Amino acid sequence: MVNSKPKITLSAAITLDGKIGQKNKHIVLSRIIKTCKRVPTIIVVSELASKSNLNRLQKSPLDVIVCGKNQVNITKLLSILSKRKIKTILLEGGGTLNRSFLKQNLIDEMIIALTPYVLGSKNTIDLFEGISFPELKMKLPLKLKNVKKTGSEIILNYKF
Ligand SMILES: NC(=O)c1ccc[n+]([C@@H]2O[C@H](COP(=O)([O-])OP(=O)(O)OC[C@H]3O[C@@H](n4cnc5c(N)ncnc54)[C@H](OP(=O)(O)O)[C@@H]3O)[C@@H](O)[C@H]2O)c1
Repeated sequence: MVNSKPKITLSAAITLDGKIGQKNKHIVLSRIIKTCKRVPTIIVVSELASKSNLNRLQKSPLDVIVCGKNQVNITKLLSILSKRKIKTILLEGGGTLNRSFLKQNLIDEMIIALTPYVLGSKNTIDLFEGISFPELKMKLPLKLKNVKKTGSEIILNYKF
């Protein structure tokens, strides 16, 4: 666990078969660029980001942090955000990003909405994409702190 890091809450909607979406559906950056005029926005990239892309980003009122060589270095990023007095983070990642945080034992709390759908296994993304048991360093089982029913969904709140 990072010494002083923001509190991280993972939030996700999952299907009954533990899926969170379909492969190759990433967030569209242009939407973030549109909203950054109204919402203070930080974009974090690794050193792999090209100069031209960085220049394009820096034309918008965005705060761009370059952190990590080939991939964003999450622990370094958290310490930068901590120094900027950011105390809480809502992690609404896809399965790959969720996995990176879980593997490094960085998640403090999880809010999972269990939805009455099934997506199946073809071209779908797991809540923690590609993780297997021997990789997990975190303490299991998690502590279930709250359960709420809203319509046909169940909201589960776990603490680590
Ligand atoms: N149901 C929900 O609550 C929910 C929420 C969010 C998203 N989703 C769904 O999740 C799916 C996307 O998931 P995904 O697993 O494909 O992608 P993802 O987790 O959204 O994003 C992964 C990308 O993040 C980048 N990345 C940067 N730094 C990283 C780091 N340190 N560790 C790991 N990744 C890092 C990587 O880009 P590079 O390859 O450039 O390194 C990687 O490709 C979509 O279908 C979306 O709709 C569902």
